[in-house]
Amino acid sequence: MRMRKKKHSAERIAACGGLLIADPLSLHGNFGEIFGNGRPLMLEIGCGKGDFAVGLSSAEPEKNLIALERVPDVAMFALEKAAATAEERPDNLRFIIGNAAYLEDWFPPHSLERIYVNFCDPWPKKGYHKRRLTAPSFLAAYSRLLVPGGELRFKTDNSDLFEWSVEQFESLGLEITFITRDLHSDPANAGNVETEYEKRFSSMGVPIKSAHVRFDREIVLPEKEKKNAE
Ligand SMILES: C[S@@+](CC[C@H](N)C(=O)[O-])C[C@H]1O[C@@H](n2cnc3c(N)ncnc32)[C@H](O)[C@@H]1O
Repeated sequence: MRMRKKKHSAERIAACGGLLIADPLSLHGNFGEIFGNGRPLMLEIGCGKGDFAVGLSSAEPEKNLIALERVPDVAMFALEKAAATAEERPDNLRFIIGNAAYLEDWFPPHSLERIYVNFCDPWPKKGYHKRRLTAPSFLAAYSRLLVPGGELRFKTDNSDLFEWSVEQFESLGLEITFITRDLHSDPANAGNVETEYEKRFSSMGVPIKSAHVRFDREIVLPEKEKKNAE
Protein backbone atom coordinates (compact mmCIF):
# COMPACT_ATOMS: atom_id res chain seq x y z
CA MET A 1 0.00 0.00 0.00
CA ARG A 2 1.76 3.18 -1.18
CA MET A 3 0.76 6.48 0.37
CA ARG A 4 1.95 10.05 0.56
CA LYS A 5 3.67 10.88 3.86
CA LYS A 6 0.97 12.05 6.24
CA LYS A 7 1.38 15.23 8.22
CA HIS A 8 1.53 14.94 12.00
CA SER A 9 1.38 11.15 11.89
CA ALA A 10 3.56 10.74 15.00
CA GLU A 11 1.19 12.99 16.98
CA ARG A 12 -1.90 11.26 15.59
CA ILE A 13 -0.46 7.84 16.47
CA ALA A 14 0.47 9.07 19.96
CA ALA A 15 -3.10 10.33 20.45
CA CYS A 16 -4.34 6.73 20.14
CA GLY A 17 -2.47 6.09 23.35
CA GLY A 18 -2.80 2.63 24.82
CA LEU A 19 -3.90 0.94 21.59
CA LEU A 20 -0.32 0.82 20.30
CA ILE A 21 2.28 -1.55 21.72
CA ALA A 22 5.17 0.80 21.03
CA ASP A 23 7.91 -1.53 22.23
CA PRO A 24 6.79 -5.16 21.90
CA LEU A 25 10.27 -6.43 22.87
CA SER A 26 9.89 -4.93 26.35
CA LEU A 27 6.92 -7.25 27.03
CA HIS A 28 9.15 -10.35 26.80
CA GLY A 29 6.20 -12.17 25.28
CA ASN A 30 3.82 -11.40 28.12
CA PHE A 31 0.90 -10.14 26.04
CA GLY A 32 -1.52 -11.14 28.79
CA GLU A 33 -0.11 -8.19 30.75
CA ILE A 34 -1.35 -5.77 28.06
CA PHE A 35 -4.85 -7.22 27.97
CA GLY A 36 -5.13 -7.98 31.67
CA ASN A 37 -6.21 -11.56 30.93
CA GLY A 38 -4.84 -14.79 29.47
CA ARG A 39 -7.40 -15.21 26.68
CA PRO A 40 -6.33 -16.88 23.41
CA LEU A 41 -4.25 -14.58 21.24
CA MET A 42 -4.78 -13.97 17.50
CA LEU A 43 -2.54 -12.02 15.12
CA GLU A 44 -3.38 -10.22 11.89
CA ILE A 45 -0.36 -9.54 9.68
CA GLY A 46 -0.56 -6.48 7.39
CA CYS A 47 -3.74 -5.00 8.83
CA GLY A 48 -3.77 -1.97 6.51
CA LYS A 49 -6.33 0.61 7.61
CA GLY A 50 -7.83 -1.71 10.20
CA ASP A 51 -11.39 -2.59 9.05
CA PHE A 52 -10.80 -6.31 9.59
CA ALA A 53 -9.05 -5.91 12.95
CA VAL A 54 -11.83 -3.70 14.31
CA GLY A 55 -14.52 -6.04 12.94
CA LEU A 56 -12.86 -9.20 14.22
CA SER A 57 -12.27 -7.79 17.70
CA SER A 58 -16.04 -7.21 17.97
CA ALA A 59 -16.94 -10.58 16.47
CA GLU A 60 -14.64 -12.54 18.82
CA PRO A 61 -14.87 -10.81 22.21
CA GLU A 62 -13.54 -13.87 24.04
CA LYS A 63 -10.17 -13.63 22.26
CA ASN A 64 -7.41 -11.03 22.10
CA LEU A 65 -6.11 -9.68 18.79
CA ILE A 66 -2.83 -8.02 17.82
CA ALA A 67 -2.87 -6.26 14.44
CA LEU A 68 0.54 -5.76 12.83
CA GLU A 69 1.25 -3.18 10.12
CA ARG A 70 4.63 -2.28 8.68
CA VAL A 71 3.84 1.25 7.42
CA PRO A 72 3.27 3.79 10.22
CA ASP A 73 1.15 6.13 8.09
CA VAL A 74 -1.18 3.23 7.26
CA ALA A 75 -1.24 1.92 10.85
CA MET A 76 -2.24 5.43 11.92
CA PHE A 77 -5.61 5.04 10.15
CA ALA A 78 -6.16 1.65 11.77
CA LEU A 79 -5.32 3.04 15.20
CA GLU A 80 -7.68 5.99 14.70
CA LYS A 81 -10.47 3.64 13.56
CA ALA A 82 -9.92 1.46 16.62
CA ALA A 83 -9.83 4.51 18.93
CA ALA A 84 -13.05 5.91 17.42
CA THR A 85 -14.89 2.60 18.02
CA ALA A 86 -13.26 1.70 21.35
CA GLU A 87 -16.38 2.30 23.42
CA GLU A 88 -18.53 0.04 21.23
CA ARG A 89 -16.03 -2.85 21.22
CA PRO A 90 -14.52 -5.21 23.76
CA ASP A 91 -11.10 -4.07 24.96
CA ASN A 92 -9.27 -6.86 23.14
CA LEU A 93 -7.37 -5.16 20.28
CA ARG A 94 -3.85 -3.72 20.19
CA PHE A 95 -1.47 -2.78 17.37
CA ILE A 96 2.20 -3.21 16.61
CA ILE A 97 3.93 -1.13 13.94
CA GLY A 98 6.63 -3.38 12.54
CA ASN A 99 7.68 -6.02 10.05
CA ALA A 100 6.45 -9.63 10.15
CA ALA A 101 10.06 -10.72 9.61
CA TYR A 102 10.53 -10.07 13.36
CA LEU A 103 7.51 -11.94 14.71
CA GLU A 104 9.64 -14.44 16.60
CA ASP A 105 11.40 -11.64 18.48
CA TRP A 106 8.06 -10.55 19.95
CA PHE A 107 5.88 -13.63 20.33
CA PRO A 108 6.90 -16.71 22.35
CA PRO A 109 6.78 -20.16 20.74
CA HIS A 110 3.27 -21.60 20.48
CA SER A 111 1.58 -18.50 21.85
CA LEU A 112 -0.84 -17.75 18.99
CA GLU A 113 -4.12 -19.48 18.36
CA ARG A 114 -4.70 -18.05 14.90
CA ILE A 115 -2.82 -15.97 12.33
CA TYR A 116 -4.67 -13.96 9.66
CA VAL A 117 -3.02 -12.96 6.39
CA ASN A 118 -5.44 -10.89 4.29
CA PHE A 119 -4.68 -9.66 0.78
CA CYS A 120 -0.94 -9.64 1.31
CA ASP A 121 1.35 -8.15 -1.32
CA PRO A 122 1.56 -10.68 -4.20
CA TRP A 123 5.23 -10.00 -5.10
CA PRO A 124 4.58 -11.24 -8.67
CA LYS A 125 8.21 -11.45 -9.85
CA LYS A 126 9.56 -14.95 -9.37
CA GLY A 127 12.73 -13.81 -7.58
CA TYR A 128 10.59 -12.14 -4.92
CA HIS A 129 8.25 -15.03 -4.07
CA LYS A 130 10.16 -15.63 -0.85
CA ARG A 131 8.81 -12.28 0.38
CA ARG A 132 5.22 -13.51 0.18
CA LEU A 133 3.68 -13.93 3.62
CA THR A 134 2.79 -17.50 2.63
CA ALA A 135 6.37 -18.39 1.60
CA PRO A 136 7.93 -21.46 3.29
CA SER A 137 10.13 -19.37 5.63
CA PHE A 138 7.03 -17.56 6.94
CA LEU A 139 5.04 -20.80 7.19
CA ALA A 140 7.88 -22.33 9.20
CA ALA A 141 7.84 -19.30 11.53
CA TYR A 142 4.03 -19.61 11.90
CA SER A 143 4.50 -23.30 12.78
CA ARG A 144 6.73 -22.27 15.69
CA LEU A 145 4.38 -19.49 16.82
CA LEU A 146 1.01 -21.23 16.60
CA VAL A 147 -0.31 -23.52 19.32
CA PRO A 148 -0.65 -27.16 18.21
CA GLY A 149 -3.81 -27.24 16.11
CA GLY A 150 -3.57 -23.47 15.53
CA GLU A 151 -4.64 -22.00 12.21
CA LEU A 152 -3.52 -19.69 9.45
CA ARG A 153 -6.50 -18.02 7.75
CA PHE A 154 -5.63 -16.60 4.37
CA LYS A 155 -7.66 -14.49 1.91
CA THR A 156 -6.66 -12.93 -1.39
CA ASP A 157 -8.05 -11.66 -4.68
CA ASN A 158 -4.93 -12.88 -6.53
CA SER A 159 -5.29 -16.30 -8.22
CA ASP A 160 -1.57 -16.76 -8.88
CA LEU A 161 -0.67 -15.99 -5.26
CA PHE A 162 -3.47 -18.24 -4.03
CA GLU A 163 -2.55 -21.29 -6.12
CA TRP A 164 1.15 -20.84 -5.30
CA SER A 165 0.30 -20.60 -1.59
CA VAL A 166 -1.83 -23.77 -1.73
CA GLU A 167 1.15 -25.54 -3.32
CA GLN A 168 3.37 -24.38 -0.43
CA PHE A 169 0.84 -25.59 2.18
CA GLU A 170 0.58 -28.97 0.47
CA SER A 171 4.30 -29.43 -0.10
CA LEU A 172 4.96 -28.79 3.60
CA GLY A 173 2.34 -31.40 4.53
CA LEU A 174 -0.02 -28.89 6.14
CA GLU A 175 -3.69 -29.76 6.43
CA ILE A 176 -6.00 -27.44 4.50
CA THR A 177 -9.21 -27.55 6.54
CA PHE A 178 -11.18 -25.12 4.37
CA ILE A 179 -10.71 -23.86 0.84
CA THR A 180 -12.78 -21.82 -1.59
CA ARG A 181 -12.04 -19.88 -4.73
CA ASP A 182 -15.22 -17.82 -4.33
CA LEU A 183 -15.73 -17.04 -0.67
CA HIS A 184 -18.62 -14.64 -1.18
CA SER A 185 -20.68 -17.40 -2.88
CA ASP A 186 -19.78 -19.96 -0.19
CA PRO A 187 -22.00 -20.70 2.85
CA ALA A 188 -18.85 -20.09 4.94
CA ASN A 189 -19.14 -16.41 4.06
CA ALA A 190 -21.71 -16.01 6.83
CA GLY A 191 -19.83 -14.23 9.56
CA ASN A 192 -16.92 -13.33 7.27
CA VAL A 193 -15.35 -10.03 8.34
CA GLU A 194 -14.36 -8.06 5.24
CA THR A 195 -11.16 -6.10 4.77
CA GLU A 196 -10.72 -2.85 2.82
CA TYR A 197 -9.12 -4.70 -0.12
CA GLU A 198 -11.79 -7.38 -0.01
CA LYS A 199 -14.56 -4.77 -0.31
CA ARG A 200 -12.74 -3.08 -3.17
CA PHE A 201 -12.02 -6.26 -5.18
CA SER A 202 -15.39 -7.90 -4.62
CA SER A 203 -17.17 -4.71 -5.71
CA MET A 204 -15.19 -5.04 -8.97
CA GLY A 205 -16.48 -8.63 -9.38
CA VAL A 206 -13.20 -10.36 -8.46
CA PRO A 207 -13.85 -13.64 -6.58
CA ILE A 208 -12.19 -13.82 -3.18
CA LYS A 209 -10.04 -16.90 -2.55
CA SER A 210 -9.63 -18.24 0.98
CA ALA A 211 -7.94 -21.14 2.78
CA HIS A 212 -7.65 -22.20 6.41
CA VAL A 213 -4.56 -24.21 7.25
CA ARG A 214 -4.00 -26.23 10.40
CA PHE A 215 -0.56 -26.45 12.04
CA ASP A 216 0.12 -29.49 14.23
CA ARG A 217 3.91 -29.60 14.25
CA GLU A 218 6.93 -27.40 13.70
CA ILE A 219 8.18 -27.20 10.12
CA VAL A 220 11.91 -27.65 9.62
CA LEU A 221 13.12 -26.26 6.30
CA PRO A 222 16.26 -27.14 4.37
CA GLU A 223 19.02 -24.59 5.15
CA LYS A 224 18.76 -22.77 1.76
CA GLU A 225 15.03 -22.00 2.26
CA LYS A 226 15.37 -20.65 5.77
CA LYS A 227 16.11 -17.01 5.02
CA ASN A 228 13.15 -14.73 5.75
CA ALA A 229 12.30 -11.80 3.52
CA GLU A 230 13.49 -8.40 4.83
C1 LIG B 1 -2.33 -5.05 0.14
S1 LIG B 1 -2.45 -4.39 1.72
C2 LIG B 1 -3.86 -5.20 2.44
C3 LIG B 1 -4.35 -4.51 3.68
C4 LIG B 1 -5.48 -5.23 4.42
N1 LIG B 1 -5.03 -6.50 4.96
C5 LIG B 1 -6.68 -5.45 3.53
O1 LIG B 1 -6.95 -6.61 3.18
O2 LIG B 1 -7.36 -4.48 3.20
C6 LIG B 1 -1.10 -5.23 2.54
C7 LIG B 1 -0.69 -4.54 3.84
O3 LIG B 1 0.26 -5.36 4.47
C8 LIG B 1 1.33 -4.55 4.95
N2 LIG B 1 2.52 -5.43 4.97
C9 LIG B 1 3.14 -5.98 3.90
N3 LIG B 1 4.18 -6.73 4.28
C10 LIG B 1 4.23 -6.66 5.64
C11 LIG B 1 5.10 -7.21 6.61
N4 LIG B 1 6.15 -7.96 6.25
N5 LIG B 1 4.87 -6.93 7.91
C12 LIG B 1 3.83 -6.15 8.27
N6 LIG B 1 2.97 -5.59 7.38
C13 LIG B 1 3.17 -5.84 6.09
C14 LIG B 1 1.43 -3.43 3.94
O4 LIG B 1 2.07 -2.29 4.45
C15 LIG B 1 -0.04 -3.19 3.62
O5 LIG B 1 -0.63 -2.23 4.49
